[in-house]
Amino acid sequence: MTHDLPQDGPADPARRLALGGALAATAATAAAVGAGAARAQDAAPSGHLSGKTAFVTGGARGIGLASAEAMARAGANVVLFDIATPNLPHVDYALSGPSDLAAAQAWIEGLGAQCMTYQGDVRNLSDLQDAMSQAVDLFGSLDIVLANAGVGHAGPIEDVAAERISTLYETNVGGYMKTTQAALPHLRDAGGGRIIYISSGLSRTGNPIFGSYGATKWAVNGFAKSAAMAYGPEGILCNVVAPGLVRTPFADNAATLSQMMPGVENPTFDAVSEMIAQGSTLGIGHHEPEDIAEAVLFFTTDAARHLAGEVMDVSYGDAARNVA
Ligand SMILES: NC(=O)c1ccc[n+]([C@@H]2O[C@H](COP(=O)([O-])OP(=O)(O)OC[C@H]3O[C@@H](n4cnc5c(N)ncnc54)[C@H](O)[C@@H]3O)[C@@H](O)[C@H]2O)c1
Repeated sequence: MTHDLPQDGPADPARRLALGGALAATAATAAAVGAGAARAQDAAPSGHLSGKTAFVTGGARGIGLASAEAMARAGANVVLFDIATPNLPHVDYALSGPSDLAAAQAWIEGLGAQCMTYQGDVRNLSDLQDAMSQAVDLFGSLDIVLANAGVGHAGPIEDVAAERISTLYETNVGGYMKTTQAALPHLRDAGGGRIIYISSGLSRTGNPIFGSYGATKWAVNGFAKSAAMAYGPEGILCNVVAPGLVRTPFADNAATLSQMMPGVENPTFDAVSEMIAQGSTLGIGHHEPEDIAEAVLFFTTDAARHLAGEVMDVSYGDAARNVA
């Protein structure tokens, strides 16, 4: 890899709060990172993404925010696009809120990078088109797109309500397709670019409690490979990062954890991670968002200039078990 990122972020407590997206903590986080923004005016990061603009869906927290941070540290201007609506029908856990999005922006600006936010829904093509037009007006180009906004669900296949199936597919599959459609004219204007899709380790294997969600992620891999073939000749390189379990509110919520550890009362994320670790290739059971961000960043580098249609597993060695 050609990038060289500072490694000091993960231990910073303000950063952990921003990445975790704990709603109750966001006011304190915003205050902490806001102070950083004022200090960092004359210390804009430089790196292989200097002068480039990265657009991140689901950027208010979790994998999206960690990836935005990695790209900002490499010099990119960042656009954080997020629904920022905690209570969405047919989703079992709280999504980000406006304060998460504001805190995320303050965090990125605290690094010295330029950051635009947009409260929008990846299910609406017009939201994506409007946000990307505004980003190009502001920063001059669009060069990298991270299709990341997604929702999850765990539970027996026979119990998944029709509305929930629609929400999963319209967000995780339709949202990625619309993100691609909205981005293409701008990436062409830039003379090429990179689209990185976040799928999942559940796109590689069956899983009885993630049947509906996992199917959306198998679809993501297929779509990304088609997009890679369609647009690779134009220099628009499409690749996938497929994470295993990652410590974000997407997984660290009661509805999901209780399905992953049936029979255990109020299981914690760490208990689930330990359970997975017992059978995992490398003896660990989860990743942190920064691990996924490193893989995303790789696909923005010169080292990845001849890659398209790849699916990179970041799954504590579970890729060793995959047959697909
Ligand atoms: N956390 C994991 O264990 C894990 C593992 C594998 C893959 N993934 C995938 O990684 C991606 C990011 O997940 P995360 O763990 O960071 O989750 P997260 O819930 O912490 O973050 C997702 C973000 O997307 C936003 N979002 C949701 N629906 C949206 C919509 N319709 N429009 C715009 N924004 C929307 C949310 O508000 C939130 O800020 C998802 O696609 C998920 O499927 C997560």
